[in-house]
Amino acid sequence: ILEKPFGENLASATVLNKELEAHFGAGQIYRIDHYLGKEMVRNIQAIRFANPIFTDVWNSRYIESVQISALEDMGVETRGGYYDASGALKDMVQNHLLQILSIMAMEEPKEMTPKGLHDAQLDVFDALRQADEESIKEMLVLGQYEGYQNEPLVRPGSQTETFAALKLFIDNKRWKGTPFYIRTGKKTGTREIELSVIFRRPYPEVEPNVLIIKIQPTEGVYLQFNIKRPGDTDDIIPTKMDFCQSCSFINQMNTPEAYERLLGACVRGERFWFSQWDQIETSWKYVDRLEELWGDRTPAAYAPDTAGPREADALLAQDGHHWFREPEVYKR
Ligand code: BG6
Repeated sequence: ILEKPFGENLASATVLNKELEAHFGAGQIYRIDHYLGKEMVRNIQAIRFANPIFTDVWNSRYIESVQISALEDMGVETRGGYYDASGALKDMVQNHLLQILSIMAMEEPKEMTPKGLHDAQLDVFDALRQADEESIKEMLVLGQYEGYQNEPLVRPGSQTETFAALKLFIDNKRWKGTPFYIRTGKKTGTREIELSVIFRRPYPEVEPNVLIIKIQPTEGVYLQFNIKRPGDTDDIIPTKMDFCQSCSFINQMNTPEAYERLLGACVRGERFWFSQWDQIETSWKYVDRLEELWGDRTPAAYAPDTAGPREADALLAQDGHHWFREPEVYKR
């Protein structure tokens, strides 16, 4: 059983994989991506495929954008040595967040077997539009929180990113023209991992329908929709349904921690929720290319306890979009 980082780039990951497969055989290797063990990541498939109200509109005709946001409040703490040689792209995007993206975007697996699931995910990895010299400017933002360079074990003058925001496209029929936005960062003042699906508006004056799959700290599903403002008026206002799974089931269910669940699956020989070599290979190719195109540019500075650099907002604003935030009045 191996946990990430699986290599440092495609070349080192390939060497590692060859060695491992030569000694153990592909069928004996389990590569843990602990995000695949999280309750609400495992729930994505059920939400997508067991609900026609979502299944049938899960495409670019109805969906304007998909946002995968993984913000952390902590800095690098005691892990500066590891982190400084990695950075947000390799630490979170290449593995956890691309895995989530592939489950959000995949076709319904043809068969409910590990191979069926992995093939469906792999098709998404394969369809990611590759970055080039031109597109990199409007698809990637890297940032570094102020004070990072003074953290223990971080190299003085380090250019390692502690924040990354990306705009990706999946070149297939389902997703033609719908951007997938990803952002992740340390010291952002909040700990919140959410997947937001922003639907197209029927007309410009109304707010969009928004589905949010809440991964942590709250586990749940949020749906924003429109109603008539109560009273003698025809105004249309947004409202919400907000299912808090971690609130409702708290006494009935002991959700196994992600690692506990994955280790259990490994002991039982269940291969569904582990990353596969071909997925790792493709995602390294993708991330290596981003790093190469980024070159030695300086990451944008951001103040600790803010949601990353301003450039990450501009990344969406160029398309008339913004990072979705649950309106304050809806907060519990
Ligand atoms: C790890 C990263 O894989 O995931 C860390 O190396 C990150 O930098 C962590 O903080 C986040 O995991 P979780 O389960 O706390 O969201």
